[in-house]
Amino acid sequence: MNNNLSAQFLLNPNIIFLNAGSFGACVKPVFENYQQFQLELEQEPVQFITVKGLEYLKQSREALSKYINCNADDIVYVTNPSYAVNIIAKSFPLKAGDEILTTDIEYGACDRTWNYYCKKAGAKYIRQKINFPLTTKEEFVEQFFKGLSAKTKMVFVASPNNPTGTTNTEEELTAFIRAVPDHVIVVFDEAYAEYQVKAPDLLPLIREGRKVICLRTFSKIYGLASLRVGYGYAAPDCIALLNRVRQPFNVNAIGQAAAVAALDDDAFMNQCVRDNLLGLKQLEDGFKALGLEFVPSAANFILVKVGQGAAVFSALQTKGLIVRPLAPYKLPEWIRITVGTKEQNEKILQALKEEVK
Ligand SMILES: Cc1ncc(COP(=O)(O)O)c(C=O)c1O
Repeated sequence: MNNNLSAQFLLNPNIIFLNAGSFGACVKPVFENYQQFQLELEQEPVQFITVKGLEYLKQSREALSKYINCNADDIVYVTNPSYAVNIIAKSFPLKAGDEILTTDIEYGACDRTWNYYCKKAGAKYIRQKINFPLTTKEEFVEQFFKGLSAKTKMVFVASPNNPTGTTNTEEELTAFIRAVPDHVIVVFDEAYAEYQVKAPDLLPLIREGRKVICLRTFSKIYGLASLRVGYGYAAPDCIALLNRVRQPFNVNAIGQAAAVAALDDDAFMNQCVRDNLLGLKQLEDGFKALGLEFVPSAANFILVKVGQGAAVFSALQTKGLIVRPLAPYKLPEWIRITVGTKEQNEKILQALKEEVK
């Protein structure tokens, strides 16, 4: 890999980054809110923090709960899912001998955080091997549950998963959660939920008393990663515990306001979902035409098998196309391509045609 990326590429506007979101941020609400907050801050900074900030927090939790269709008490603000993992691990402390069950391919930051807390407590972090790519959906559940034991305290799964892009339907996830013993806490990372036309609704399970915690972020479809806004939803007793442990003001007022405004921007959101689905289809059709194996995706990226992933990554890089090589996930033959605009997708397909023989 080229170590001098910034000198060679970052100043070149022709470089196409297909390793993160491609549809930009939900700009309008962020900008408008920022201006309004700046005015208020300049007028009365102390009051803003002590009184207005709390009012805004209340309002924004209400807006989020309306969006999720739950109560404000079911919501906890977190800066992002891996921060949420930290406060979950502190709120439900692990003991020596406890087990946390996850899969062998999970988003790195959450995976490392769980691993850290397990090591610290003398608990076992079980990364259950799941066939890749899966041949049937049933296979996932069958293999995953081989890792479950009487010592399992928590289960952690991202759905849709990063980097595989795989997901499960509401029915499958419901059956999955019901198959986990009652006392086990099930944590779902739903960072990419909004890319699905209809994200699975796990609230009914939370309502019936299942220990389910769902984590979301505004970094993905809303493109607000630099604001660091995320949230979790779960039963109010669980949220109360998480609220005791999280840092006060962990999500700042501007981030909250931008997030709430973004929730209202249906036009932006619908456009992203549509463009993403069209882009996935375009890439899939292109991979088929090139005879390349891929994994159908429910997220804003897709895995394609290119043989020597690292070599293809480097070759694409020299053409100004940045994708994600997957050797760190022990998938050296695959690369992850984020869905781009129609023209960007065409470019990557053309480059793959030239590079993958
Ligand atoms: C599955 C998953 N969860 C969580 C995150 C974290 O997103 P952020 O920290 O930007 O909110 C990511 C980011 O790549 C992800 O892929």
